[in-house]
Amino acid sequence: MGKGVGFAKTILFGEHFVVQGSHAIGASLSKEFSVKITPSDTLNLNIETGQIVLDASRAILDSLNLTGNYSIEVETDIPSGAGMGWSAAYSVALVRAAAQEKGVELDWKEVAKHAYEGEKVFHGNPSGIDNTLASRKGAILFKRGEDPSAIELGVPITIVIAYTGKKGYTKDLVAGVARVKEEKPEFFADLLKKEEDLVMEAKYSLEQGDLDRLGALMDQNQEHLRQVGVSSPELEELISIFKDEGALGAKLTGSGGGGCAIALVKSKNDTSAILQRIDKKYLIFEAQIG
Ligand code: MEV
Repeated sequence: MGKGVGFAKTILFGEHFVVQGSHAIGASLSKEFSVKITPSDTLNLNIETGQIVLDASRAILDSLNLTGNYSIEVETDIPSGAGMGWSAAYSVALVRAAAQEKGVELDWKEVAKHAYEGEKVFHGNPSGIDNTLASRKGAILFKRGEDPSAIELGVPITIVIAYTGKKGYTKDLVAGVARVKEEKPEFFADLLKKEEDLVMEAKYSLEQGDLDRLGALMDQNQEHLRQVGVSSPELEELISIFKDEGALGAKLTGSGGGGCAIALVKSKNDTSAILQRIDKKYLIFEAQIG
């Protein structure tokens, strides 16, 4: 028997562009995914899922040289397809459970590396940011193929996360952005450069605790995401409510197409106007980062 946990995440800046080589900033959330595995005759889960979850699970077990079958019991309050890293948190939790079953100790980097094998099955060409965030606590600056670095926030930040209720399909959305890059290479290269500058300025603003600037950068990041076609009417509705109710900045988080939008607010005391305006049909969470 083995048990493990993984964290939900939010991407604050740089999603999608990070797949194409720029930096991104994300943070783990306090929501967790727990996995327990016990040897079994077949590979199975205690929840209804597509074949893809079984395939990803097999890839993770293979990566740890565990060839047997297992009953995988999962417990989580992370919504799937919401841009909060369901698949990465699952993959990380399964790696930890499998490592315990095998009797090996892994540090978070090794956990993230094995979890990436699952993420490839789920998403085709993931950057690796989600499985990195799911494997450790805190905020990081991430670039594909490089070791992530921790970001020390000047002041803790408060964000509101709202789920549109519509799933986003990361694999298709990432492929859509790759098509924009292929069809309009100069436009895309220019945007990628702007995004890289924006993410580095966001890192500095996080370190300085400059919330007003961070908010403005979030709005600009959302504009870049619109330009590569990953926003949606549902996300835009949430973003305009956030802005109407005084958010410093707002954007989609994760792969978009649905999923979640986030708003940066001045402090924990400034969430009530937003929380009241958001229709109860949307799931809503508050998070403190740093
Ligand atoms: C998904 O949470 C983040 C994306 O940038 C994909 C990735 O980085 O693998 C859209």
